[in-house]
Amino acid sequence: MNHFINQLPKAELHIHIEGSLEPELMFKIAQRNGLTLPFASIDEIKSAYQFENLQSFLDIYYASADVLRTAEDFYDLTWGYLEKIATQNVRHTEIFFDPQTHTDRGVEFATVIKGIDQALQDGKSQLGISSHLILCFLRHLSAESAMKTLENAIAYKDKIIAVGLDSSELGHPPSKFQAVFERARNQGFLTVAHAGEEGPASYIWEAINLLKVSRIDHGVRCIEDETLVEFLAQSRIPLTVCPLSNVKLCVFKTMQEHTLKKLLDRGLCITINSDDPAYFGGYLTENFQAIQEGLGLTNLELYQLAKNSFEASFLSPIEKEKFYQELDSFMAQYPSQ
Ligand code: HPA
Ligand code: ZN
Repeated sequence: MNHFINQLPKAELHIHIEGSLEPELMFKIAQRNGLTLPFASIDEIKSAYQFENLQSFLDIYYASADVLRTAEDFYDLTWGYLEKIATQNVRHTEIFFDPQTHTDRGVEFATVIKGIDQALQDGKSQLGISSHLILCFLRHLSAESAMKTLENAIAYKDKIIAVGLDSSELGHPPSKFQAVFERARNQGFLTVAHAGEEGPASYIWEAINLLKVSRIDHGVRCIEDETLVEFLAQSRIPLTVCPLSNVKLCVFKTMQEHTLKKLLDRGLCITINSDDPAYFGGYLTENFQAIQEGLGLTNLELYQLAKNSFEASFLSPIEKEKFYQELDSFMAQYPSQ
């Protein structure tokens, strides 16, 4: 393992907590809840993780989330993720959760929040990892369903910093959720949205202009629109890029073809993230390592990506400053090439 990458202080800004459900924990929770999985073994599960596109992944991801029923399940899921990233010097994380995936199966919103929030509090006190929680609406469902979910979330405003948009992108543009996001902003939530993963660059413009997002999740298809690339460089609206996810879901055929270095060189605020680490072959260290190997990034470029992760976070200016200083003292021990 690359010691520099693993020990680099970093933040994660694009992780679906349901996507951190490792097969081992899936089996344990299924057993605890008296459920039978459609897989006979952990190896069988892992070999099913071959995807042609986003939808082929989402089908398995939603089916697997069905084992999650109790607050304890959501606690164990979140705690497992936090324990893992603690070994990779992830200092701060902003976690997505998909309440509709659970409330549509009869699991209460309160149950989901209770388990995740308790683990995040323990993550802070026992592992020193700070965090924020971001609620994602499933864009393949209706705007009415998203609005109902938002109404449920208002009671937990103190625990949820932002709302976002995930699931099947094509055919579900950000404009579908304009009214929901407007109400969310009026209620004090920040906003983010998945856009330009499989969808066109015009979805990124919509997320910026109609949903008033602070960050774009994925956003790699911005490269097809030169005006947009210039706008993103000048505004520093961050992209939360997920390299291993992009290759696993065939957004890029190989890591060597990934465009993140080109975008970084153009001055965009690019960050590196794991998306669904249990499904795509790794957590933050593995993502950094894959781009370092595939794109030949220098230590200085990796440092810039880590610095961007704090800049792009929802931390306060004082908290960001503290992490920049931590990063700079870390860098002083290493050559920059
Ligand atoms: N894209 C859209 N929705 C998702 C993803 C993703 O990469 N991961 C989990 N839900
Ligand atoms: Zn995602």
